[in-house]
Amino acid sequence: MEIIYQEKEKRFHLRNDSISYIFQVEKDKYLQHCYFGPALTSYHQSNPPQFIDRGFNTNPISSERTFSLNTLPLETSTQGSLDYRIANYQFLNQAGNSVTAFEYESYRIYDGKPRLSELPTLRGSKAKTLEIVLIDSIQQLKMILHYSIFTDSSAITRSVTFENLSNTAIYLENAGSLMLDLPRCDYDLVTLNGAHTNEANITRQKLHPGIQRIDSNRGTSSPQHQPFLALANWNTTENSGEVMAFHLIYSGNFIAQVEVEQYGTSRVQMGINPDTFSWKLDPKAIFQTPEAVMVYSTTGFNGMSQTFHHLYQEHLVPKTWQKKERPILLNTWEGNYFDFTETDLLNQADKAKELGIELFVLDDGWFGQRNDDTKALGDWFENTTKIPSKITGLAEKIHEKGLQFGLWFEPEMISKESLLFNKHPEWALQVPNYPLTQGRQQLVLDFSKEAVQDFIIDMLTGYLQTGKIDYIKWDMNRHLTEVGNLTLPQDQQQEIAHRYVLGLYRILQTLTTKFPEVLFENCSSGGGRFDPGMMAYMPQTWTSDNSDALCRTRIQSGYSYLYPPIMMGAHVSDVPNHQVGRITPLKTRGLIAMSGNFGYELAINQQSETTLSEIKKQIQFYKKHRQLLQFGDFYRLLLPTETAACAWLFKNEDEALVVYFHGLAQPAQKANYLKTYYLDHDALYQEVNSQAVFSGAELNHAGLLIPRIKGDFETCYFHFKKITSTKTV
Ligand code: GLA
Repeated sequence: MEIIYQEKEKRFHLRNDSISYIFQVEKDKYLQHCYFGPALTSYHQSNPPQFIDRGFNTNPISSERTFSLNTLPLETSTQGSLDYRIANYQFLNQAGNSVTAFEYESYRIYDGKPRLSELPTLRGSKAKTLEIVLIDSIQQLKMILHYSIFTDSSAITRSVTFENLSNTAIYLENAGSLMLDLPRCDYDLVTLNGAHTNEANITRQKLHPGIQRIDSNRGTSSPQHQPFLALANWNTTENSGEVMAFHLIYSGNFIAQVEVEQYGTSRVQMGINPDTFSWKLDPKAIFQTPEAVMVYSTTGFNGMSQTFHHLYQEHLVPKTWQKKERPILLNTWEGNYFDFTETDLLNQADKAKELGIELFVLDDGWFGQRNDDTKALGDWFENTTKIPSKITGLAEKIHEKGLQFGLWFEPEMISKESLLFNKHPEWALQVPNYPLTQGRQQLVLDFSKEAVQDFIIDMLTGYLQTGKIDYIKWDMNRHLTEVGNLTLPQDQQQEIAHRYVLGLYRILQTLTTKFPEVLFENCSSGGGRFDPGMMAYMPQTWTSDNSDALCRTRIQSGYSYLYPPIMMGAHVSDVPNHQVGRITPLKTRGLIAMSGNFGYELAINQQSETTLSEIKKQIQFYKKHRQLLQFGDFYRLLLPTETAACAWLFKNEDEALVVYFHGLAQPAQKANYLKTYYLDHDALYQEVNSQAVFSGAELNHAGLLIPRIKGDFETCYFHFKKITSTKTV
């Protein structure tokens, strides 16, 4: 890995074994993008921009009519004078103008990668960083573009710092993290879209002229859109072809867009959503944008996913949890909802222990007057009618049974009907004179306020410092409205959405640093805030409130574009399924849940002996394969559709597990050969159940016959052990 500066050409080349990223300084001022793609040993500009005197060109040098910033591929840009394409940043000065004129000033290359103040970032011990300083000398503004490249990853990170060097405040109206100009536009745009209980649908469509954008204005990254987009060649598949992917490490309002412009080029842009953002940059103040990740894959979407999975597992999640096995949990939600007593819980814990479960998680309903979802959020003290021993006592009893203990919180919320709201109505987000809009009959706490942040830190510290809580499920079940408060002046009200996210990060940073051994699970009605910002503090997410096995094949496949299975909470729940009413076999529910971060969420004391004995076997099976399922490489072999099959492969040095889900039973079944694509070509593998021996190459290319399956939603698996790695045997 290296970052080269070619003095003569004023050219920067970030390079490792798999990718190159190149740009240069033009006319001593402008940053012209040259290349992003497979690694180049050297670059001599075989692909210069086309300089033509075009109609409606804008020319910074009036006599040079072929040179226009409206067509030049750039590293960053704004609107207002020379470029009409989508902007990556925008200022508004006190005179009401937004024209700026940033010019290249200097660069710096160094080992490693800085942590961004107040924001989550990828760790960079194996990285190098390039900083480019640009200055607007008219208004005394500074902008630093940060680029980092890793030794072992086809990824580059980018972010921007803005600094006001002047003596007058100025407003930052748009603060993008990444902009990339590409010479073509004949790409397919790929995004992950959805809704509550229907997250992460893979959407693929051709780019068309104009702007295509996804975003969030809900205060969180949202289940509606993942802060991600990819551009793929039309013939890119899961296993082959080129794809460029962009992902924002941020948990609030974001924008991700592509513009196909007049001469068949395209511009990608990503960052905080400017629609709900403005930031007053006081004299000498600095604003730091979130970090964006760019990935280049020449091996299709699986190749892209491999890069994200390794990057996030090795450089993003808290270090303690990088290689630590995750416990099999029983969550009380779907089995009890709000209706339980301490005795019920202890009985369930006994059963859980007998079955081999390792962590008992008490979900919603344990605090204040919380007997349904209409009240008590904010009253984080035990309901002693339900739990006479209080949380500490209950946790001790659970520990005595040999189980870990976990607890649910929804710290960002406040119910109107709560003691906390009576005491601190000003702590809810609000706009004077307007009604407080409720969602799930609750309001949102103003996390931009330090007093609120401190209250949450102290409250959770109180529970965690007892040492009795091993796991926290951190939930967030509504989106933000009336994003305002009575504290900040009028010209800073538009900062609140971003300040909220910074407040959240401050809390999470404080708690996870104080209590690194506590496992935090991220949740927002399932995958409502499943983003890399949250994963920097919480190494796993409750993927979806939808636990139906068929739906989960699609949701987990979608999220696996970016996140490895260990990050995706997946539970076996009762049938008929509580969200969609479907009945699927227990074996299928088990295998699909094991393909994520495994647990149970059902009425454990109401199961038949047969079911319990099957659950016990599932747990034994999972424990045997846990290393492979949690830390092996994960590949999608077949992407599910509404009725068809889905197949996943888990692979490490010594073994592999193929999980095959059959979907709906079909008449006149054809012979069904499943190709494994990614087994070691030259190795021999033995399938453990049948004892049959196959070469990796034949399994990859000829495929494996899937036995005839009758019945809907059946599943099977194949466990391969590598018996030799040479083809001569
Ligand atoms: C959300 C979560 C669920 C459960 C409930 C409790 O919907 O996603 O798993 O915790 O809240 O109210």
